[in-house]
Amino acid sequence: MKTAVDIRALTLGDLDAIEDIEHNSYDTPWSRSMFAGELAKPASLCLGAFEGEQLAGYLIVSRYVDAWHIMNIAVSPDFRRRGIATALIQRLFELTDDRSRRGYTLEVRVSNDGAISLYERLGFTARGIRRGYYTDNREDALIMWREPGG
Ligand SMILES: CC(C)(COP(=O)(O)OP(=O)(O)OC[C@H]1O[C@@H](n2cnc3c(N)ncnc32)[C@H](O)[C@@H]1OP(=O)(O)O)[C@@H](O)C(=O)NCCC(=O)NCCS
Repeated sequence: MKTAVDIRALTLGDLDAIEDIEHNSYDTPWSRSMFAGELAKPASLCLGAFEGEQLAGYLIVSRYVDAWHIMNIAVSPDFRRRGIATALIQRLFELTDDRSRRGYTLEVRVSNDGAISLYERLGFTARGIRRGYYTDNREDALIMWREPGG
């Protein structure tokens, strides 16, 4: 079942709900101050997917040079497999395509099959491996890219 969500910019008032989802999504969650830092950066784009007033998921993206880097994406466990992460990334493409000369990139744990298939469906392809990138368990990161315009 797909969920109709509103996608809008995150604000500091969303930090409690962000933390809640973050802690339910990652073994090594970002701190509150990391989110606050991204919200304050002009080069970052921070989007939330809301069902009514409830935050269902978020996407944090930073622009470095000519590429957009997906820094964090998470959806509340109760809202997964309803197209919310897809809707967030598609909104990113709509908002940024004219400002993205090199496209979009991200790192993902090589074991995160669900996220990798999400990204592949959205046009990302694997371009390399960063050995031991994740400091908690030295897991490798898969580096993925998507060209501007698909
Ligand atoms: C990865 C994550 C953001 C996906 O969010 P989501 O809203 O459930 O994703 P969508 O519903 O848009 O999924 C779209 C497609 O991606 C693939 N996909 C997403 N999650 C998947 C999973 N757990 N297993 C297998 N395929 C998956 C499927 O092809 C899915 O389509 P389908 O449901 O029609 O089969 C969510 O599972 C999450 O928050 N995980 C924990 C945090 C995380 O790993 N983030 C990524 C770090 S790089």
